Amino acid sequence: MFKTEMTEILGIQHPIQCGTMMALTTSEIIGPIAEAGCLCCFPSASFDTREATLEEVKKIRDLTDKPYGANLNLFPHFGDGPSPEERLDWLIEAGVPIIETSGGNPNPFRENIRSAGIKHIHKVARVRDAVKAEQAGVDMISVVGTECGGHPGLEEVGFIVLIPAVLDVIKTPLIAGGGICDGRTFMAALSLGACGVNIGTRFMNTKEFPIHENFKNKVIENTATETVLAMKTLGNPARVMKTPWTDKIVQMENAGSSIEDLVPLISGMLSREGWLTGEVENGMYSYGQVMGRIHDTPTVKELVDRILAEASERRDCLNRL
Ligand SMILES: Cc1cc2nc3c(=O)[nH]c(=O)nc-3n(C[C@H](O)[C@H](O)[C@H](O)COP(=O)(O)O)c2cc1C
Repeated sequence: MFKTEMTEILGIQHPIQCGTMMALTTSEIIGPIAEAGCLCCFPSASFDTREATLEEVKKIRDLTDKPYGANLNLFPHFGDGPSPEERLDWLIEAGVPIIETSGGNPNPFRENIRSAGIKHIHKVARVRDAVKAEQAGVDMISVVGTECGGHPGLEEVGFIVLIPAVLDVIKTPLIAGGGICDGRTFMAALSLGACGVNIGTRFMNTKEFPIHENFKNKVIENTATETVLAMKTLGNPARVMKTPWTDKIVQMENAGSSIEDLVPLISGMLSREGWLTGEVENGMYSYGQVMGRIHDTPTVKELVDRILAEASERRDCLNRL
């Protein structure tokens, strides 16, 4: 229905990516997303050995023979864990067809990804990082506006300004994210010049998404104002659902708390548990502003079909203007 450079380059049916979401976007959700004709990447940072990485790819392959990807986080690596270079070797060995890099400069990884015949998306939140990614020669650039869930970057520029600003200075096909949830927002992204969309928050309210029902019900109640940017003082802001817990984090940040004081409240392990046990109020959970536009919990296929049907309707309306 919508054939774009994104569907062509990545070999997927629809120009829609379910954004990488930490430990959540694993085989369980990649299967239904791929079967619905869209892309989803598993976070390679959640699989700390070669064996675990190969096992995850096998699980995905047992669920679908359609394209899928892996996210390779390039954020500076500390401690004893595997380096991004090691993880990339495992992804190449596993035969992953698409890699999305994020959190650092893709240039040092570009040649290995290219020569392995893997399609390469690089994800950014700033114009200048998009320019660098184009200079590195990646196949596609994914750009998220500040309304997105997860890490929107420090500049806080919204989707409607950021996407055309990036397209003014790059030629590489662009995937746009931040606030996409339906056919109208999908068409807005294509109208701005993107060749596809990256959707995070909206996909979390699908039946198959592997988080506790409490979150899905809470999102239906919440409005668009119920997110906050936490961890700004640490230079790595995260847009998260506003709860008593995140209010405390922001208060501590405003009072000048150090990273050592904040660590017990922002630990990724805590939220990883909370997603499964439904501890909505006690933890820090990434969500985008678009949660205010989510009113139900369909299946992945129902959601994708609905977005595409609405988008076609929009396209017809625009053609009649
Ligand atoms: C719960 C959650 C976790 C996320 N984790 C990651 C991540 O690990 N890596 C990444 O590149 N982006 C991450 N993101 C961002 C998403 O991939 C996606 O770009 C973003 O959600 C799109 O904006 P939207 O939420 O408005 O749809 C996360 C987003 C959410 C909501």
